[in-house]
Amino acid sequence: MTDLLLLPGDGIGPEVTAQVRRVAQALTPDLAIEERLFGGCAYDAEGTPLSDETLALAKASQAVLMGAVGGPKWDGKTPRDKRPEAGLLALRTGMEVFANLRPALCFEALADASSLKRELVEGLDLMIVRELTGGVYFGQPRFIEDLPDGGKRAVDTQVYTTAEIERVARVAFELARGRRNTVHSAEKSNVMETGLLWRQTVTALHEREYPDVQLVHILADVAAMRLVKSPKQFDVLLTDNLFGDILSDEASELTGSLGMLPSAALGAPGKPGLYEPIHGSAPDIAGLGLANPLAAILSFEMALRWSLGRAEAADRLQAAVTTALANGARTRDLGGSLSTGQMGDAVLAAL
Ligand code: IPM
Ligand code: MG
Repeated sequence: MTDLLLLPGDGIGPEVTAQVRRVAQALTPDLAIEERLFGGCAYDAEGTPLSDETLALAKASQAVLMGAVGGPKWDGKTPRDKRPEAGLLALRTGMEVFANLRPALCFEALADASSLKRELVEGLDLMIVRELTGGVYFGQPRFIEDLPDGGKRAVDTQVYTTAEIERVARVAFELARGRRNTVHSAEKSNVMETGLLWRQTVTALHEREYPDVQLVHILADVAAMRLVKSPKQFDVLLTDNLFGDILSDEASELTGSLGMLPSAALGAPGKPGLYEPIHGSAPDIAGLGLANPLAAILSFEMALRWSLGRAEAADRLQAAVTTALANGARTRDLGGSLSTGQMGDAVLAAL
């Protein structure tokens, strides 16, 4: 039985997941780890970004941790359904991980690395809960068609059901109870039918099951504005797939670096979770040993906590990262000069 399936992927993915492996060997040496190709490299070697065998192994593991996928090599000429990104979407739906937890936590030592003033981000601890397997990413129909006038017409479909909204909202409310007890639910109910259903469904669930949690409805554009104006007003921010994609990139920058942020994608209780750094494959620095491995290492920390039942090891790892940063460990994205491996060394030393 595989405890942890590593999918290093493309670009900087292999470099950052190599540091996860080192940390795992030191912290939880008994963990059974497997590794498979995924993304562009899997397309090159196996003809598909996500093979059936890899998906089956992912579903049979306790947790899956991926690095990153994609890169210029596969842009353009790769068939659309074979692109690395298509593999990622297939992995998310195949594993049925509908709730994507994207924390934006500002480490004290990094408050000055943010593009916002220190007082706005110091102590920031917000959790974005992004719906991950529905909405416009998957809605049918979707196509580009030719028009008689020689132009074209493109269609994407934003679609949500009550059940899809409820199950992800439940995750947000449950999380809020263990935090500062507030959920902001972001949609565009002023212009979209899906937004209206989202608001109605979240309101009804709140009245029925979570009246003790404070619920604030907010339009997604207002949420984007407030995230840079006064981000600390948020505790849990619940939103759909597309808005969550955008708002989580915005939130990540508040913390100083995209290279710092982990994420967890969870399905039904007892099913394996999918863990990934929020950053992409960063082809411009791939292979140079410059990438910050902390987002991947913190993704492993989330896996220990949420899927592997090892909260104590997760606490130790979180503390080690905090210590390494407090001791001045900085990769280039954080204004320092450590290599990927040296940042791994710093975390290991703190462990
Ligand atoms: C993310 C990424 C993906 C997404 C891409 C790579 C398909 O931007 O995880 O945020 O849009 O979900
Ligand atoms: Mg994104």
